[in-house]
Amino acid sequence: MRTGCIIFSTLIALFISFTSCSTNESGEPENQKTYYTEQYRPQFHFSPDSMWMNDPNGMVYYEGEYHLFYQYHPYTNVWGPMHWGHAITTDLVHWEHLPIALYPDSLGTIFSGSAVIDWNNSSGLGSSENPPMVAIFTHHNQKLAEEGSLQFQYQSIAYSLDKGRSWTKYPGNPVLKNSGIRDFRDPKVSWYEAGQKWIMVFAAQDRIMFYSSPNLIQWDKESEFIAEKTSDEGVWECPDFFPLTSGEETKWVLLVSIGGGGPNGGSGTKYYIGDFDGEKFISDVPSGGARWIDLGKDNYAGVSWSDIPSEDGRRIFLGWMSNWQYANKVPSQRWRSAMTLPRELKLGKSEKGYFLNSVPVVETELLRGDQIKLEPGPVKDRQNVGPFFEDAYPIYEIDLLFEFDPDLHEEGVEFGIVLESKQHEQLSAVFSTRTQQVSIARNQSGKADFSVNFPGVHVGPYQVTGTGEIRFHAFIDLSSIELFMDDGALVLTELCFPESGFEQIHLYANKESVKLKTGTIYSLKSIW
Ligand code: FRU
Repeated sequence: MRTGCIIFSTLIALFISFTSCSTNESGEPENQKTYYTEQYRPQFHFSPDSMWMNDPNGMVYYEGEYHLFYQYHPYTNVWGPMHWGHAITTDLVHWEHLPIALYPDSLGTIFSGSAVIDWNNSSGLGSSENPPMVAIFTHHNQKLAEEGSLQFQYQSIAYSLDKGRSWTKYPGNPVLKNSGIRDFRDPKVSWYEAGQKWIMVFAAQDRIMFYSSPNLIQWDKESEFIAEKTSDEGVWECPDFFPLTSGEETKWVLLVSIGGGGPNGGSGTKYYIGDFDGEKFISDVPSGGARWIDLGKDNYAGVSWSDIPSEDGRRIFLGWMSNWQYANKVPSQRWRSAMTLPRELKLGKSEKGYFLNSVPVVETELLRGDQIKLEPGPVKDRQNVGPFFEDAYPIYEIDLLFEFDPDLHEEGVEFGIVLESKQHEQLSAVFSTRTQQVSIARNQSGKADFSVNFPGVHVGPYQVTGTGEIRFHAFIDLSSIELFMDDGALVLTELCFPESGFEQIHLYANKESVKLKTGTIYSLKSIW
């Protein structure tokens, strides 16, 4: 699947690690001086120190630490035999890198999966005083795949008794064998309190399997979830399954990432909302009724943290900020890929049924530096409201409330923001009353020639509600934009590679009828 030129990449990797360990003229280690300052390096998103990263894995909260494991290839900056990299955060924005948690073994390389705290020590792998942290992952056996077997993916477990710092693979692995399904991977496990059992969901080609267990070791099949598909839909991957409550009502949410046929091409993540009786998930819409969790091109394989304390009660999600169409080719060298900002998922309801809102976690406010309040008033053509970043990186949060006449559908009113770099590269995020879409145009946004699938204008439908107000809430890092419309019912996450960030900020409207009601721009602080 994603092999690439391993020997060449290994040489690059050796070169990178050699140069990064060398010292400069003052004897200071080079990597201290240049730490996280490379071109395109995200300044407030998680990215690995070096080499290749894809899906977030094993996200679990324990004793004040949010763990993030991730699909990691430590020897090259392209996808290869998978390990679980590891990092932690105590505030969801500042990260600490930890050593690799899981290495390939005789059963295979370590594909995606999840982690839980086995509070009652149901597995017997820890004790009641020291409950084990248990990782449930897919072993991918490349040799079996090459020999033509269909049983090359199966589910295994590993446990840690020291807060995720060291791991022991369970000697009886795999805990769930493959009965002959080609794609059989990405287990997400959670404790189902009402039935006093563990539930595992995982992807099996074109469907989601539901299994249950009393102890994380013996697993029994409960059911399958299948839904109508579009013709270009890729293989199903990386599910997540959890309840969300709004007021009196609790609904179950099933996230599914799909390898192709995403909202603007390539990979993307959708969700189903319905009910769960402990055995079977039934979607509210009989044919499926999937929606996208993010309409941008760059949010894939995202899942949520488990074991967030009930006093907190949030469901916090994080995705891989890339797309399989070009992930191996994006123009960074020392490292490849970053994660999205952590987002809180909330249950919303409209006349069309339930949906998810996703908003950046409140902890992102810790990133804020200086703030500028914009003058309310009509927005005329292109109005420059920046730059504000004298010495710092041009990384910022924009929070704008526009007011427009909702009856102007046919007139074609367009408004939003245009970001511009010193080199006149541009990225725009615009709402059009005529198409009722929000679009992000990144075709002139900087380096884009590494893949024909990268440049373009990417859109998400936005239904005018009649209030005539629309909020653009965006986070701009050196190589990404995350745009949350209103309260996060529409989100677009997009990579972009301007030479050195976008320092000019313009408000834009093609007609004078649009007003800025309120507006704040915050410069953000680098986390590295
Ligand atoms: C999703 C995915 C998973 C798999 C992993 C391998 O991006 O293809 O299905 O476990 O990546 O790295």
